[in-house]
Amino acid sequence: MSVGLEVKNEKLETKKEQVISKRFYIESYGCQMNFADSEVVASIVSNHGYVSTTDLNEADLILLNTCSIREKAELTVRKRLESFNKLKKHNKKLKVGVLGCMAERLKDKFLDEEKIVDLVVGPDAYKDLPNLIEEINDGRSAVNVILSKDETYGDVSPIRLSSNGVTAFVSITRGCDNMCTFCVVPFTRGRERSRDPKSILKEIQQLVDSNYKEVTLLGQNVDSYLWYGGGLKKDFGKISDLRKKSSIDFSKLLKLVAESFPKLRIRFSTSNPQDMSLNVIKTMSSYKNICNYIHLPVQSGSDDVLKAMNRQHTRKEYLTLIKEIKTIIPECGISHDMITGFPNESEEDHKLTLDLMDEIKYDFGYMFKYSERPGTYAGKKFDDNIAEEVKKIRLQEIIDLQRKHSSYRTNQYIGKFVEVLIEKESKKSNLFWSGRNEQNTVVVFPKEFYNVGEFVNVEVNSCTSATLIGQATGYSIK
Ligand code: SAH
Ligand code: F3S
Repeated sequence: MSVGLEVKNEKLETKKEQVISKRFYIESYGCQMNFADSEVVASIVSNHGYVSTTDLNEADLILLNTCSIREKAELTVRKRLESFNKLKKHNKKLKVGVLGCMAERLKDKFLDEEKIVDLVVGPDAYKDLPNLIEEINDGRSAVNVILSKDETYGDVSPIRLSSNGVTAFVSITRGCDNMCTFCVVPFTRGRERSRDPKSILKEIQQLVDSNYKEVTLLGQNVDSYLWYGGGLKKDFGKISDLRKKSSIDFSKLLKLVAESFPKLRIRFSTSNPQDMSLNVIKTMSSYKNICNYIHLPVQSGSDDVLKAMNRQHTRKEYLTLIKEIKTIIPECGISHDMITGFPNESEEDHKLTLDLMDEIKYDFGYMFKYSERPGTYAGKKFDDNIAEEVKKIRLQEIIDLQRKHSSYRTNQYIGKFVEVLIEKESKKSNLFWSGRNEQNTVVVFPKEFYNVGEFVNVEVNSCTSATLIGQATGYSIK
């Protein structure tokens, strides 16, 4: 009898030890939303008894939060997975999970294609992780890629990973209904749904209580935010007029956040031109704590290409929107996303893109070669017929032109004062701080007696195309 008891205790001990010592390691790829999602995942997995580690070698569970936006992003993840083979040989109990867009796109095919993978979880299924982890620890593989109509993780308090303690992302919408023909996101992240403003405010309050100074409200299409008590954006038309009246759109949400947290810096991303309203721009201009910066992807300067991309706005409409922004907020920083080499893009189309850039002179931008994604409309209907060499040349022209415009923009700041939130040490020198001005341009300056998390005024005295360099002249009163 006593032997039995001993065995039982031993078992209990081992189980307890296992629970205490299990460690997870998480790595994120792709968009800001993925990084924010990883913080939700970290919270869910931690509540299941796992402790986070930044050391791969001591992990019992490795999670990769993956991106499918371009083929290159997927190849990076596959390479990374390969590198775990060695670790798995050393540690037979090590489990590897794939989360995010690649999980959603490839589903259980992943298990066949990458033998190293034990777990496949799509962006809407993270709450199922505790069950799925139990399954893989019992020696089975596990997959959940069910997309949801209402999951927003509003009730999960994210654990801030590798945070600077000053800036944080807060997601406000999930999914996208826009169906741009090149884009895999609507397939991997599902239909658009908005998060309850109460839970958004609660999360921001927690951040403010922990001394965070800036939040970025996140969504694939933030301007399309619409809270009417829950449910898909596409079902809004079916509700009563009374409920419609009391609904909260993005400009109202911005106002709510700005008024509730007057000392907090507020940013948002991403804005899609067809969904950005004048009300949003006016709200930005009415509140000092909403940063004068808009990321406004355009993808192309040619109407023919915009149409084939199903972007739902013309070049002229986009330029009108830019004009409205600049009229209401003359000092607004604007950045873009651009895709070059979309199917059938002619030299003329490409010239129109360069011409649009010349007209706007963006502060900065993110520029990509078109990458055909399986399952998208463009992937199915259009021939990826622009030669790689041509894509390369066009991309370089776009990048060079952007560098010229960025330089033009940063030079405009010389001799002026900008407000900077100090985020971290400059990468180039440990004697300098690094932060961003309202317009999202990086500013570096000598540390002196200032600290991370403080708002300071900086006089700009020189610049590169991407960075302003200056001297702090005192605290900025918030
Ligand atoms: N609305 C999203 C867009 C996500 S994708 C957001 O939150 O930013 C980011 C950018 O990747 C797009 O704006 C587009 O410029 C680029 N992109 C998307 N699909 C692509 C593809 N198939 N090939 C090349 N670039 C792509
Ligand atoms: Fe993709 Fe277009 Fe939505 S780029 S995320 S489908 S707005």
